Amino acid sequence: MTSRTQTTFAPPVMQARRWLADVTFSEDTPLINVSQAAPVDPPPEALRDAMAEALKDPETHLYGPVLGLPALRDALAARWSAQYKGRVKPENVAITSGCNQAFAATIAAICSDGDTVILPTPWYFNHKMWLDMSGVTAVALKTGPDLIPDVQAAKALITDTTRAIALVSPNNPGGVEYPAETLQAFFDLARAHGIKLIVDEIYRDFDSRDGPPHGLVSDPNWGDTLIQLYSFSKAYRLTGHRVGAIFASPDLLSEVEKFLDTVAICPSQLGQKAALWGVEHLDDWLDRQRREILDRRAAIHDNMPLLTAKGWRLMGCGAYFAYLEHPFAASSADLAPKLVSAIGVLALPGTMFTPADDSSGERQIRIAFANVDRAEITTLFARLASLDWPLATPTSPA
Ligand SMILES: Cc1ncc(COP(=O)(O)O)c(C=O)c1O
Repeated sequence: MTSRTQTTFAPPVMQARRWLADVTFSEDTPLINVSQAAPVDPPPEALRDAMAEALKDPETHLYGPVLGLPALRDALAARWSAQYKGRVKPENVAITSGCNQAFAATIAAICSDGDTVILPTPWYFNHKMWLDMSGVTAVALKTGPDLIPDVQAAKALITDTTRAIALVSPNNPGGVEYPAETLQAFFDLARAHGIKLIVDEIYRDFDSRDGPPHGLVSDPNWGDTLIQLYSFSKAYRLTGHRVGAIFASPDLLSEVEKFLDTVAICPSQLGQKAALWGVEHLDDWLDRQRREILDRRAAIHDNMPLLTAKGWRLMGCGAYFAYLEHPFAASSADLAPKLVSAIGVLALPGTMFTPADDSSGERQIRIAFANVDRAEITTLFARLASLDWPLATPTSPA
């Protein structure tokens, strides 16, 4: 017997944390942790004060509506309508306990055993894990050197069992921002085949483009095809309070409601009130955060020549991530743990984001740079450039 959880792998971030167990870091070479995308700083103080105030309200400690607080659903519908230049009603919004739960609820609402969902690779590992545990096959849509998925290649993968294509933009792990035309082409493809297009936009607040990143929501019937996922884990650093959202048709959200009611009953009331306060008060603060992240992204580009000279290649860079091809002979699965003891760097190998039968991840490493400033990025690159490990030869199978 194989249980649902036995169908998938162990949580990669926890696995990577164990590489730190026996290593002591000197004062000269402190750990640079670029393994995880979760913000390490707390939410801004004014938001924490608002949360302390919310704790005094007895309602905060009770169950709330399964699909979330009406005031937050209203506020998000208004924000989405304005930002995506489309019509989003409160009935199109469900609040979830984070973006991972949003994905899980969506898959439960649209899939059954034996169905398939197309995921571009490298993929976000929790999407793959949830599909495994749901008895749904993740069909890999391999991307090329620019990490942008190809719509014709996706079309060739659609069969009678396909229920959705799930994209992440800006992308984790690749960092790339999918062009509006790419998202439109995927939307058109999904609609033509009567399947859903799921777009996880958890990093949208850090997109380098001003204005809406795509025009999908301006389609008056967007809800027949599009399902957008979002979260406050990154935006206001409410990571531990678990608040996310699904934007979809009311019919789909009725299905989602069954999942949410059974799993968590309602999202955290405190977290939702915090998110609402953020939507009402933190636009300027969020804009400053975005600029800081964009500056860190620029720092990656500024420092890249040092690594390019050593045979590295920057495949994608944006939102919280830089995705790099390394020049070494060994697999990133073996190199990543060694980076910890050799140069005090914790980063995840590409093998954690690629299917077992796809060797491309062996040459790739993800750098989650949101928590390291310009100075640390410079140190990080100097440390990576100092590695003198054996290089891959052109005939190397990797
Ligand atoms: C693409 C993507 N989706 C979902 C999540 C999970 O977010 P949440 O904390 O809202 O569950 C992450 C977290 O890193 C992510 O990168």
